[in-house]
Amino acid sequence: MHNSHRSVVVLLSGNGSNLQALMDFSSAGNYRVSGVISNRPDAYGLQRAKQSNIPTTVVDHKQYASRDLFDQALCQAINEYGPGLIVLAGFMRILGADFVKRYQGKILNIHPSLLPNYPGTNTHQRVLDAGEKLHGVSVHFVTEELDGGPVIAQESIAIEPIDDAQTLAVKIHEKEHVLYPAVVSLFADGRLSLDGNSAFLDEQLLPVTGQRIDDL
Ligand code: GRF
Repeated sequence: MHNSHRSVVVLLSGNGSNLQALMDFSSAGNYRVSGVISNRPDAYGLQRAKQSNIPTTVVDHKQYASRDLFDQALCQAINEYGPGLIVLAGFMRILGADFVKRYQGKILNIHPSLLPNYPGTNTHQRVLDAGEKLHGVSVHFVTEELDGGPVIAQESIAIEPIDDAQTLAVKIHEKEHVLYPAVVSLFADGRLSLDGNSAFLDEQLLPVTGQRIDDL
């Protein structure tokens, strides 16, 4: 585990079920979660980290007068862990342009939709309202554009007539918990990269919808 790609810091704001999946997978995997940072002191994800003896830091956005100051404090907290990868897992703050530039190609996010469709919040209800038959989850590199960075991998689910926002959330989480550790493993092996607004796997340009999960 000397390769710096293998040290991961997870940023979250809430429940942290994706953190749990990442930690569970890491024991048999090729990366380790070195630290967990939350902008909310009461995030349940912090408890999950502590139960696994992973160090935690709270950078409470309410303590900072501007986004720049918050981002600076966040950078400091991240750098103390010296990670090769920053993984956003339900982190509900928008990161400033300077922050994103500083860690370019080293920040991943998971988003509950088939990007580029349905960026933003409340995706389950929005796909239902639009009468979609397909929904899904995307892992992408973070760029300055919110939920707009190039997609690395996606997994889709069928929407059944019986589904509501809650059942979709459950189905989506199940997919997330498999997809995110798989993509973090690829990164840990140095197989993923970002160039401008394009994502590459083994130096091959990925399609706009990313790699098929079955091929990972
Ligand atoms: C996930 O659905 C993820 O796609 C979105 O936020 C949610 C986080 O869930 N970005 P959890 O905190 O990991 O359970």
